[in-house]
Amino acid sequence: MVKWSDYIAKQYESLLVLRERIPRLSGDARYLTTKTKKHLNFISNDYLGLSTNADIVESFNKATNVYGLGSTGAPTLSGYTEEHHLLSSEIASWLGFNRCLLFNSGFQLNVGIYSQLVDSNTMLWLDRNCHASHIDGILLSKTKFSSFTEDNIDTMIDKIKLQSEKRHLILTEGVFSMDGTCSYLNKLLQLKKSCPDNVLLVIDDAHGVGALGDNGFGTMEQLGLKTNEVDLFIGTFGKAFGTHGGFICGNENIIEYLQQSVRSQIYSTNLPPSIAAATRKSLEIIKSNDGIALRQRLRSNISYFSSLTHKNGIYNQSPIQLLIFSDLNKLDAIHTRLFENNVLVGKIKYPTVPKDKPRLRISLNALHLNQDLNFLMDNINCMDNIL
Ligand SMILES: Cc1ncc(COP(=O)(O)O)c(C=O)c1O
Repeated sequence: MVKWSDYIAKQYESLLVLRERIPRLSGDARYLTTKTKKHLNFISNDYLGLSTNADIVESFNKATNVYGLGSTGAPTLSGYTEEHHLLSSEIASWLGFNRCLLFNSGFQLNVGIYSQLVDSNTMLWLDRNCHASHIDGILLSKTKFSSFTEDNIDTMIDKIKLQSEKRHLILTEGVFSMDGTCSYLNKLLQLKKSCPDNVLLVIDDAHGVGALGDNGFGTMEQLGLKTNEVDLFIGTFGKAFGTHGGFICGNENIIEYLQQSVRSQIYSTNLPPSIAAATRKSLEIIKSNDGIALRQRLRSNISYFSSLTHKNGIYNQSPIQLLIFSDLNKLDAIHTRLFENNVLVGKIKYPTVPKDKPRLRISLNALHLNQDLNFLMDNINCMDNIL
């Protein structure tokens, strides 16, 4: 028998990457402060800078005074408050759906839903770039699945049309967290229209909702589509909303069924009520003229960044920008230089992305100034030219 201590040591050695954590002491969407430095922040998902918004923090504090800190129970017990109730109905009506179900996080949502949605007669199709939470949820459901990419979407659509005796669940994201925006949503909506009874279309727009589109409805609005044209719309509050939690919207029957069956929300202490109250305030701002102005600032930062990196115009119209370097040493050297010059960006390698496409991941937000983007790109270009 291998002793537990030896087993863990061996497993640890076999890990492909070791990820460092640096505790931050304070900060906002533009700067993060650690023990030693103040860094320009290109690593957070606080796309509108709302995580430090004073009105949202005040709503959080007020609700804490009313309800206390924790929700004190699962949603079927003491954990469901008026704040949760109002937040879910406000999100549903904002996005044009009948119902919305809240979760403690997007991950918990994605890990929980597939086991309830699919059976041996369902074919599940997911874009290969979908988030780890979907992959884990699908594996947990023990269903058959196939992956697709933008390059073979037409083949997948043809296969689905030929297998009309089966139910198909198609899953994609509005903005892929390592690859930028989805380009083929329109094709999936056409397919849904031609096979309404056996295709269930699910989109996770964690990185788009709140941040993209004139009204903040997300990637679909940016592409000129309506959010409620999909069957299930997933989002998180931990990104543009600046708070915490996950949500799924759909029609009355499907959401009622998920509410009654998804174990990862039935058997877990609910989101704190103060987070629900803060998220309601966040939604109010996202819908207001202030929200429109923040999205305009984000959009102009995306355009400005694209003009610095892709001279021929906008390349990826999302807050997540990626610079791919096939040379790993170059990537490491640029990342180190940026860190030494107080700039934090993501360094993404295999197994998160393919081996030959390591990249810098740059998260833009509404609080960045042109001078921040110039400083970032000057540092990158300078190293890129030397190496
Ligand atoms: C597409 C997508 N879905 C879900 C999640 C998980 O959401 P949460 O952070 O709320 O757990 C992420 C996290 O980055 C994501 O990128």
